[in-house]
Amino acid sequence: MKGILLAGGSGTRLHPMTLAASKQLLPVYDKPMVYYPLTTLMLAGIRDILVISTPADLPQFRRLLGDGQRIGVNFAYAEQPSPDGIAQAFLIARDWIDGEACALVLGDNLIFADHLSALLQEAAARSRGATVFAYRVRDPERYGVVSFAEDGRATEIVEKPAHPNSNWAVTGLYFYDDRVCDLAAQIRPSPRGELEITDLNRLYLEEGTLRVDRLGRGCAWLDAGKPESLLHAATFVQTLQERQGLLVGSPEEVAFRMGFIDRAQLRREANRLIKTELGRMLLEVADHGEPGIHNGFAS
Ligand code: DAU
Repeated sequence: MKGILLAGGSGTRLHPMTLAASKQLLPVYDKPMVYYPLTTLMLAGIRDILVISTPADLPQFRRLLGDGQRIGVNFAYAEQPSPDGIAQAFLIARDWIDGEACALVLGDNLIFADHLSALLQEAAARSRGATVFAYRVRDPERYGVVSFAEDGRATEIVEKPAHPNSNWAVTGLYFYDDRVCDLAAQIRPSPRGELEITDLNRLYLEEGTLRVDRLGRGCAWLDAGKPESLLHAATFVQTLQERQGLLVGSPEEVAFRMGFIDRAQLRREANRLIKTELGRMLLEVADHGEPGIHNGFAS
């Protein structure tokens, strides 16, 4: 399975911070925001990743991430000239996807849950249909909202409804089968002029192949789209890291735990960051950590 990291848009809700910088490169505590959704894809076992951003911002992503060799993944890059909708990613990526199954994660979404890796790898292993994740929120009208029948089946999915029928928001992490590009090509722009990811999900829902996994109360899903949510996300990461002494959202650590890189390579990466607490924590993993996603490792 391949993966798309979508990191375009204009970040207007974070102006003036995003007037001269990409939102997804802003810091969330001690790392660039994009590291968190990147590790989500990596925890699903995905190593071929297409980064999509604006023509102005894409060079900065290249500078930060490079070709991916240092963390055992392959990065490719593509431009989205204007923010015409999340589902447009599959039109832009069509040639790169080349008929495979593909996941998509939004570059401003941070998901933290125990056993997340197992859940993601299950979703990635499903060969037909789509899998999305729902999370209970207080303000569902800001999101794609999914409703459920009594037996737990998803019944409808609506983008930013004025009067939501449930509190379950669809998170910005989506797993699709190898038909995704053809289905995305069927979507027409919504009244707000965007190719809506919710319309793509509805196509799967209507054919009975959309699986919606509900994330429970022990999980955190944060989207760093506004100043207060950016601060909440940073505080969350700081609190967990300082309390547990375990990293959240480190691509280097995840690469090691997933077996993408060996201990020697992790040590090299840690040494590049050695003036920081992050680098010291990575060195600790390189010295004492074991590959594998167990042993107190959660992300
Ligand atoms: O965060 C989850 C929500 O993301 C879902 O519940 C919604 O169904 C989905 O439509 C989306 O809602 P948002 O209101 O958050 O979408 P927004 O336009 O803010 O875009 C989300 C991220 O994707 C943002 O960081 C910018 C990026 N983006 C967005 C569009 C429309 C792009 O890179 N290109 C685009 O064309």
